[in-house]
Amino acid sequence: MARLKVGVLISGRGSNLQALIEAAADPGYPAEIVLVISNRPDAAGLVRATNAGIAHRTIVHADRRLFAAEAQAGLQHSGVELVALAGFMRILDTGFVEAWRDRLVNIHPSLLPAFPGLHPQRQALAAGVRFSGCTVHFVRPEIDTGPIIAQAVVPVEAGDDDARLSERILAAEHTLYPMAVRLFAEGRLRIDGNMVAISGASAPRIAVFNPSQTLASASR
Ligand code: GRF
Repeated sequence: MARLKVGVLISGRGSNLQALIEAAADPGYPAEIVLVISNRPDAAGLVRATNAGIAHRTIVHADRRLFAAEAQAGLQHSGVELVALAGFMRILDTGFVEAWRDRLVNIHPSLLPAFPGLHPQRQALAAGVRFSGCTVHFVRPEIDTGPIIAQAVVPVEAGDDDARLSERILAAEHTLYPMAVRLFAEGRLRIDGNMVAISGASAPRIAVFNPSQTLASASR
């Protein structure tokens, strides 16, 4: 079975990259990571790529278009079919985004369209929501927009701060991203406007309550 060739763009820690590396370590996983690109030479994710024996490079350019041109050349050279942004902290050149339209995905630590941009976990806490989570979506030029592939819901707990909520959302990210990439690699995603239809998938038939349902009914 030919596996889908994935290029991953990072800027830092690379824990989502690591989750993808670990998923792809299973020969039955339908995708493999063939190239990691960082825009920062000190990104810890580069060490993860090295340890996994994955080709990687750092591209540092103040100019967005120069970065995009060099990244594009590298991705093409490696035969990349899907680009996954994993903690990539720069705004991409619009031409690059359009060139990879429907083959470029991102993970964001909120339930988009709520809380796009920086510090979404902090934004969620400030808004007082009872649930946040994470989203994998196809990328469109406007930041943190595009058809949604998959989401995970993470309840906000009493006493949560930015770090605690981020940690629980991150744990969900590490399951969600490999799952979404798998669905893409299996050819199960069909984009229709802003919607993504997933063949063979079903939504969980549950409603989650926060505070929990038992607590809410006990106080009635
Ligand atoms: C993750 O929370 C991701 O959703 C966001 O940036 C963070 C990157 O973390 N886009 P890591 O580098 O994958 O550990």
